[in-house]
Amino acid sequence: MPDNLVITQNRTGKQYSIPREMVMPDHLMIIDSRTGKEYPVPITNGTIKATDLREIKVSAEDVGIMSYDPAFMNTASCQSKITFIDGDKGILRYRGYPIEQLAEKSTYLETAYLIIHGELPTKEQLQQWTHNITMHTMLHENMKKFMEGFHPNAHPMGMLISTVGALSTFYPESRQIFDEESRKLQTFRLIGKMPTIAAYAYRHRLGLPYVYPDNELSYTGNFLNMLYKMTELKYKPDPVLAKALDILFILHADHEQNCSANAMRSIGSSHADPFVATAGAAAALYGPLHGGANEQVLLMLKEIGSKAKVPDFIKRVKSGEAGRLMGFGHRIYKNYDPRAKVIKETADKVFEVTGRNPLLDIALELERIALEDDYFVKRKLYPNVDFYSGIIYQAMGFPTDAFTVLFAIPRTAGWIAQWQEMLLDPEQKIARPRQLYLGHDTRNYVPSAKRTS
Ligand code: CMC
Repeated sequence: MPDNLVITQNRTGKQYSIPREMVMPDHLMIIDSRTGKEYPVPITNGTIKATDLREIKVSAEDVGIMSYDPAFMNTASCQSKITFIDGDKGILRYRGYPIEQLAEKSTYLETAYLIIHGELPTKEQLQQWTHNITMHTMLHENMKKFMEGFHPNAHPMGMLISTVGALSTFYPESRQIFDEESRKLQTFRLIGKMPTIAAYAYRHRLGLPYVYPDNELSYTGNFLNMLYKMTELKYKPDPVLAKALDILFILHADHEQNCSANAMRSIGSSHADPFVATAGAAAALYGPLHGGANEQVLLMLKEIGSKAKVPDFIKRVKSGEAGRLMGFGHRIYKNYDPRAKVIKETADKVFEVTGRNPLLDIALELERIALEDDYFVKRKLYPNVDFYSGIIYQAMGFPTDAFTVLFAIPRTAGWIAQWQEMLLDPEQKIARPRQLYLGHDTRNYVPSAKRTS
């Protein structure tokens, strides 16, 4: 056969030769049963473009086919080079680096640099990055006054979300989102100020004076200082606890297109400034099905109360009576969440300093029974990142409702990376999903006196 021909086959299996240049790249052949027409839809990187489906129509006036995908179960909303997850194998990598290696060898600030810039920093780059973030840990004194206005019992996430949003009013130049220098500055501010806001929220609840940042301490060491410093002249964070917190921060730094990353991208796509976009992302994180789950895990463990009551609780989860087993299950992981494994190891080190949290025994028993139970096995429900993190946080002295804040602080790096990637992606536009309208057709207004129920 001449070189310029290739053999191909049609739908019925009949083989024929065609010129090489006519061979289509990988594609999905769609046959519309309404018209009998065939539509080759190109496949690129294992995906088809939803907009290609619009060509499939029954008449010239028809707007074409849409894909219907509530909750984005099978829709890629962007291309990304930040985080890779293989949920079936339990793999998580930031910019190609396995989470286990980063948790063991990196620091949160180095990992944040990696996530945002795409590469690990050189020694000098890391020093400069750390310096820049450390120089932006202070809050404007008016922010302090703003926070003083919160109700004494305000939820720390509510305070964090509002205060991060309020940063936008202090830094109006942050609206220059296409100015690279401005984006860098807002990045230093966001990563630098998050722990300060979180610590102020914590102390506000206790009626304690706010503690200013100590720039000589590490990122997590300073956070502990702002939380727990009392009358001592210099706070000395426990190195084991500061390291454990740093590991937890690495594990929470990004997780690709989850609910809050999607909120960050969606808000950012209207070209809002990064402070209000981060406030929106943090609001998405607040919900009990996302970052609020670690708080719910603790409440659940307390409610169970003892190891002996675990089998009964599992029974009630299965019957739907006790709600979901919090800290279990994940939209993507259908295997052990790799972050939960690292957290379990970190827990032992923390407990050597703080003493063992008795809730750990209940959690271990829950995990043991659930992983042997058909209900959980069949649905591939494994412990997720939130299952053990709360137990560590509680042992470290954090109140239960501050747990989600401990998720939001490190996730800020991920949100910024996702936001920046979205802004610089020429394929992205303002996020605007379509809908499948199934409501009334047009009908005439009826005055209230004439309405029947
Ligand atoms: N306990 C009991 N049953 C569960 C659980 C659970 N934790 N999670 C899922 N299921 C069942 C669910 O009832 C459904 O069963 P069926 O097919 O009989 O209706 C099946 O498993 C599939 O559940 P789904 O709701 O379709 O799964 P999803 O991918 O939409 O939900 C999830 C994922 C994380 C929201 C869910 O597993 C959940 O609610 N888990 C508890 C909350 C939690 O721990 N969230 C933290 C997630 S990790 C950190 C983060 O993202 O912030």
